[in-house]
Amino acid sequence: MKLAPSILAADFARLGEQVAEAERAGADRIHVDIMDGHFVPNLSMGAPIVASLRPVTRLPLETHLMISNPDLFLQEFADAGSDSFLVHWEGNFNLHRTVQNIKSIGKRAGVAINPATPADVLEEILPDVDQILVMTVNPGFGHQHFIQSTLAKIRRVRQMIDRVKPECDLEVDGGIDPETARLCVEAGANVLVAGSAIFSSNQSVNEAMTRLRAGRN
Ligand code: DX5
Ligand code: ZN
Repeated sequence: MKLAPSILAADFARLGEQVAEAERAGADRIHVDIMDGHFVPNLSMGAPIVASLRPVTRLPLETHLMISNPDLFLQEFADAGSDSFLVHWEGNFNLHRTVQNIKSIGKRAGVAINPATPADVLEEILPDVDQILVMTVNPGFGHQHFIQSTLAKIRRVRQMIDRVKPECDLEVDGGIDPETARLCVEAGANVLVAGSAIFSSNQSVNEAMTRLRAGRN
């Protein structure tokens, strides 16, 4: 199981340090949440944050684009140092083109689906992607409660991946704590995104990540 700490919950005044702590604790990649106040009702950060992090970590920087026109920003994030992109199925009339655009600039491509979106929409795009992201909360905010009904969907996506493209990552994002981490892994997820459970707990980043791996509070 891989861990992708989400810096949305980090202390931005000491972001480099927090990412270094996560790297030392064995994080597999750093998850960067980009919000535009339009695709989701919140603002977060832009490519300058990726550019600042690039020289201070060797970990891949995974960029979760919760924005209305992802194609317009791919090159800017790639130039800043993003290694992979997660783009949403929702609101994208030309998802296949977006995925091809990501590949044409040499980056890993993933498709994200919101809690109300059925797994079936992934069937045709799955052969073209490296990751599927099942949102386990509605995108836009950290610190939300895990939506239990997504577990059945994670199981369905796992079956689809095993059938069509076994090397594809199955990632979950939102409300991940030691308990929901365990449930998601049992359902078939192999990458866990976690923000508040890693950066806003009263434990150290290292302790928090150890607990997530163990599936115990
Ligand atoms: C939510 C973001 C998540 C967020 C998760 O829209 O996509 O990556 O950082 O935060 P937690 O782990 O606190 O639910
Ligand atoms: Zn995210």
